[in-house]
Amino acid sequence: MFRIDRNLTADDLDKALRRDVAEGLSSNPKQLPPKWFYDERGSALFEDITELPEYYPTRAERAILEERSDEIAGAAGAEALIELGSGSGVKTRLLLDAMGRHGALARFVPVDVSGDFLAASARRVADDYPDLDVHAVVGDFEHHLGLLPVREDGGRQTIAVLGSTIGNQEPGPRAGFLRDIRAVLRPGDTFLLGADLVKDADRLVAAYDDAQGVTAEFDRNVLNVINRELGADFDPSEFEHVARWNEKEEWIEMRLRSRVDQHVRVAALDLDVDFAAGEEMRTEISAKFRREGLEEELEEAGFEPTHWWTDPAGDFALSLSTA
Ligand code: AVJ
Repeated sequence: MFRIDRNLTADDLDKALRRDVAEGLSSNPKQLPPKWFYDERGSALFEDITELPEYYPTRAERAILEERSDEIAGAAGAEALIELGSGSGVKTRLLLDAMGRHGALARFVPVDVSGDFLAASARRVADDYPDLDVHAVVGDFEHHLGLLPVREDGGRQTIAVLGSTIGNQEPGPRAGFLRDIRAVLRPGDTFLLGADLVKDADRLVAAYDDAQGVTAEFDRNVLNVINRELGADFDPSEFEHVARWNEKEEWIEMRLRSRVDQHVRVAALDLDVDFAAGEEMRTEISAKFRREGLEEELEEAGFEPTHWWTDPAGDFALSLSTA
């Protein structure tokens, strides 16, 4: 069974991009939100990143799921899995398989902003799991959680946010996001959260500035997106990729640094922007977590953390909480 709800139209996305670019390029320092990395090329580059020797998070999270999915499924006892920022890839299937073995799983709700990608991957899940009710939702899960098709019949649900997707948010919005997730759930429902952990700064920086330059291409790709969607004239080769560990905030920052003094026009916004040589524009934060801090944030949002699993090296964690 397969259906798809579209809570986000191409027009909504266009408006959001215009707003983010107008605001981000007019502010000081300039910044752009990471959600615009993921056009077709950006999504393919991210897939490449997940296979880089330096980028451990995807492999580490997969290793935890391979080891613990039955334990997770048993603890969750859920009839419905809602996955925010859905990959619908290997990791999702490990969870679906375990929840299926556990007996209760009837419904899968993958949620993502990228409609085409979501439709294709959710349809494949529906084909491969004929007994599963697959109800995909195209939406911005940071803002539209109220529109989710939640069960009204008391069946248990699990919301999963994997891949350290949560790391893209700063602490303030992150607290709001966790509270919004809590508000969708009822007592006994569970929340499964994937979080990358604080570690040696050299390894962190390498994971976001790989030797092959794939992450640099991914970073610069946001400029291609703005060129195409908003008629801008960025020359991506005039920007250098920078990855920095912010020790105080405990997050990685990706930035694009202008190699020269340059002028950029964004035709669709009638916006003219100057970049000084050496000027840096932040394009992403990727927050890293410690157990104590993350569990405190979960409690603050009204959850009760019950489980904490890491890979053998202790690089990445899956946290399970009860609502
Ligand atoms: C998809 C947000 C989890 O922060 O590690 C990977 C994105 N950026 N390399 C991350 C990303 C650069 C990734 N997330």
